[in-house]
Amino acid sequence: MTSPETDLFTATELRGLTLRNRIFRSATWEGLADKRGCVTQRLVDLYRELAEGGCGLLISSFTNVLEDGSTIPGSMGLFHDRQNKGVGQLAEAVHQANGKLCLQLVHGGGQASSKLCGGQPLAPSAVETKLFPELPREMTLEDIKRTVAAFAAAAQRAKQSGCDAVQLHAAHGYLLSQFLSPHTNRRQDQYGGDIKNRSRFLLEVVEAVQNAVGKGYPLLVKLNGCDNLADGLTLEDATKVAKLLDTAGIAAIEVSGGTPISGDMNPVRMAHESGDEMAYNVILSRTIRQQVDCPIIAVGGIRSLHVMSGLLKTGQTDYISLSRPLIREPDLPNKLQSDAVEKSTCTSCNGCFKAAMKGEFRCVIP
Ligand SMILES: Cc1cc2nc3c(=O)[nH]c(=O)nc-3n(C[C@H](O)[C@H](O)[C@H](O)COP(=O)(O)O)c2cc1C
Repeated sequence: MTSPETDLFTATELRGLTLRNRIFRSATWEGLADKRGCVTQRLVDLYRELAEGGCGLLISSFTNVLEDGSTIPGSMGLFHDRQNKGVGQLAEAVHQANGKLCLQLVHGGGQASSKLCGGQPLAPSAVETKLFPELPREMTLEDIKRTVAAFAAAAQRAKQSGCDAVQLHAAHGYLLSQFLSPHTNRRQDQYGGDIKNRSRFLLEVVEAVQNAVGKGYPLLVKLNGCDNLADGLTLEDATKVAKLLDTAGIAAIEVSGGTPISGDMNPVRMAHESGDEMAYNVILSRTIRQQVDCPIIAVGGIRSLHVMSGLLKTGQTDYISLSRPLIREPDLPNKLQSDAVEKSTCTSCNGCFKAAMKGEFRCVIP
């Protein structure tokens, strides 16, 4: 177990990467990439603004490693040479503002839509679940091999384009999380069954990425600490996955929870009555933190300086990740550090998500 770190704003090292503070921008899809998955000037401007706003590490929106994993319009891709240049421009803009950029890599799996991914979506098993908009096709061993290689190739492109780190999206019901979850993984082969087998695909991706970019390059994972589904990934099994990732040499684990069909316990929870913060995944992250050596990143509903500092001081996390508050106030980290504010004014209303679906990525509250 790592020792508690207490200071939010002291520079820190993550696998050799110097970060100016412990506040991260959690991966946030903006819907601002063009139809070919390339970065637009709007995205470059937004990432510059976020980096100028002071976050220690800026995690990008999810970036597709293969066209057949595309889930949602306006997402970035890194499966073709034409996409490298824009990612390089993002890294440059972030570096010019003294920030660090981590590119999040994803395959949508059964959450992809045939309209965007160009065919029947792929998943660990061909199961009917509300998680999948369409019945997916069960991945063959060849599909698995090709997808593992695609994650590695995308990570290599990210590194070559100047990104400081990559994060695998193994949460929220996307492909890597589908393999971990008994809700979506009904396979009878070496990729299904107990949690060791269900982790195999993720661990193969980790190994392939490490071989592609080197073990010294920071590789993070966003993991569901629990799917919040009756037959989903449990905290007990997620802790086992975290231990396997830790042993494999992961730089840090961001602990999220839930899937789009987890009702009130989904990954992007609305605020309840008091509108007060809930830090709703910390119950998961602090349990996992006790079982691993690598640093843990807490995400979900964290809004104020005193809660952020408290979570660090009490050893419940090593880093803090924010998504919706930084849509409303990209300069929140600077404002918190200078004591200009104590708390984000984000109400967790999720209007930002609806706006992004219309191509207007912004906070909708005046
Ligand atoms: C508009 C929007 C887009 C999101 N896109 C992603 C994404 O691309 N990858 C990801 O891992 N999580 C994504 N999330 C989830 C956030 O990273 C985060 O886990 C969640 O919003 C909880 O944090 P918060 O309470 O600070 O917003 C998104 C959330 C929002 C609101």
